[in-house]
Amino acid sequence: MRHDEQVRLIKQLCAQLDSGTTVDAGGVIRMSAMAYTDLVIAEQEWQEFFVGMPHCIGLSGDLPELGSFITNNDLGIPILATRDQDGSFKAFVNSCRHRGVIVETQERGTTRRFTCPFHAWSYDTSGALVGLPKPEHFGDVDTSCLGLLPLQAEERHGLLFVHPDPKGTIDLDFLLGEWFNDEFSTWRFDRLIPLAHDSYDVASNWKLALDTFGETYHFPVLHKNTLNNGFHGNVQCYDEDGHLHRMILCKRAIDQIRLSPEEEWDIRFAGLPVYWLFPNIILMPFEAGVYLVRTYPDRANPGRHLSRINFYVSPDIDQTNPGIKEYLDFQTQGFAGVIRDEDYVMGASQQTTANAAAIPFILFGRNEPALHHYHQTFRKMLGQEPLKYLSINE
Ligand code: FES
Ligand SMILES: [Fe+2]
Repeated sequence: MRHDEQVRLIKQLCAQLDSGTTVDAGGVIRMSAMAYTDLVIAEQEWQEFFVGMPHCIGLSGDLPELGSFITNNDLGIPILATRDQDGSFKAFVNSCRHRGVIVETQERGTTRRFTCPFHAWSYDTSGALVGLPKPEHFGDVDTSCLGLLPLQAEERHGLLFVHPDPKGTIDLDFLLGEWFNDEFSTWRFDRLIPLAHDSYDVASNWKLALDTFGETYHFPVLHKNTLNNGFHGNVQCYDEDGHLHRMILCKRAIDQIRLSPEEEWDIRFAGLPVYWLFPNIILMPFEAGVYLVRTYPDRANPGRHLSRINFYVSPDIDQTNPGIKEYLDFQTQGFAGVIRDEDYVMGASQQTTANAAAIPFILFGRNEPALHHYHQTFRKMLGQEPLKYLSINE
């Protein structure tokens, strides 16, 4: 992020702290909790937002060397992504061209060949079929046409994007927009290396998980003994453009930082940038690296989802230093624990009442603009009516 933008945002946070104000979405909106339970909506979302769009499946650091690979089964089709021998990023349908067995079953690793466990057809990192046992017995086939089915794959700003539909195309100029394309280019996500990851199967809709990242109104309450120690709750910057938004949460360290010269201000120390990548990704650059959160629906059950949380850090950080290690453990385990034990517990609770249609609608306050934006954007993309402001006598 450019330094003048960092200064602007830090001043905005200070102004809110000084005046006791916060962001204002202009009104309160209401939404039926059916958005979290309805099977028809869930299937539309699955088709439009998940199998119908390119997705970020990790960072460049997940494929650090020639022959590195990762697999992904979150998007309805088994995906094998590789760092090919020329350094390029490639992705394939992870299904053997003989009789369809999943070729690579490990989550990640490095290899020159992927060998199918059924009859040992083997493929290289460019997806080409490079060998099969007893070809004279198997019969005549054109091996040049029987490589792993390619998927569109593109690496930009250190993010790995794959389209799960073999016929799909990737348009990152649209997906990231001018704003994120410009701002992400400054974060150097491409340098980061994986530090830790965790995943949670949660009894809540995938959007309820996203919702928990969309406001800090709850920090002094739900996180009173955890995040509230490090953040000023209910203080934030919020900007949006089309299907993109960015929040800046306010760290308590801002109280000291604002006393230092402006040239030294760094938004990662004064705040926590939270980028929403439509539809299901939260990216949060922090002092040492970035948090990547992805939420995936359970296609068969709108009341369940899988959250994946990955932590990446700068290679300049000395992870052998005990003090730094303690700090990183706090950033990873501590952060993941808050999400798992505090935020997602609220999500599951909301899902319980949504399943029971317990209340006629839920509310998103003036101080929760990111929640307005998530849901208005989802609805717009699905051709639904926008949510209305609540009038005072409703
Ligand atoms: S199914 Fe893969 S080698 Fe037969
Ligand atoms: Fe939270």
